[in-house]
Amino acid sequence: MSQNWDDLAEWWSAEVVKDQAYATDVHPILGDLLPEEPGAAMDLGCGEGQGMRITGAFGCDLSIDLLRRATASGSVVQTRLPDLGWLRDASLDTAYAVYLLDLIEDDDGFFRESARVVRPGGALVVVMNHPVYTAPGSAPISDTDGEILWRWGSYFKRGSSSEPAGAGEVEFFHRPISDLLTTAAASGWLLTRIIERGLSREVVESIPSYVGQEDIPRLLGVRWTRGRSAPGL
Ligand SMILES: C[S@@+](CC[C@H](N)C(=O)[O-])C[C@H]1O[C@@H](n2cnc3c(N)ncnc32)[C@H](O)[C@@H]1O
Repeated sequence: MSQNWDDLAEWWSAEVVKDQAYATDVHPILGDLLPEEPGAAMDLGCGEGQGMRITGAFGCDLSIDLLRRATASGSVVQTRLPDLGWLRDASLDTAYAVYLLDLIEDDDGFFRESARVVRPGGALVVVMNHPVYTAPGSAPISDTDGEILWRWGSYFKRGSSSEPAGAGEVEFFHRPISDLLTTAAASGWLLTRIIERGLSREVVESIPSYVGQEDIPRLLGVRWTRGRSAPGL
């Protein structure tokens, strides 16, 4: 299994250009959830920098090859998240992560570290694959009349699965929404808004294997506000 995003950098940089879902689905959700004025903002897992180009945020990522590309869009730091030890307490107004959280095994560390570096009253926004979609063993199945239904797999249990990505594979870490929200709350994140979506008609029409999946949860967006006091800080 390849979890090395430097090996995937070339493939990912081409994906972001051709993947229509960013324009029609992912970035609109991010825009709906981010504060109108994000202030000092950090793109966690910024990749080649497409989010930074929209938000004007700083970026951080594990992959040096993707960070080299992201420097064209702003200042970046190499880090292995959830490590944000290089940032001072309460130094950010906003942190956000797109398609990152389900690549991080230590979700508790992700919420604790982001709560430490975002000031009280600041925001955390996450846009990710919907947990209904990442549950190990979950898959579309076709009913006898051709209707596409969803097999839930082991949704209620934390787990992981390897999925193809370019010439390699990436491990996705699944946790049900109840776990995700409870873990965030334990770090002092106050839930502000949730968005759940299927794929838009434009995306479904452009990829024949998605036809019939319009009403199946595919994307999850969450905005939290940093409470005045965060446990353990
Ligand atoms: C699916 S890409 C998304 C990139 C970017 N957010 C976007 O929407 O274009 C996932 C990104 O997360 C980064 N990543 C994965 N695990 C990481 C970790 N533990 N720490 C920092 N970055 C990580 C990868 O290098 C990659 O750039």
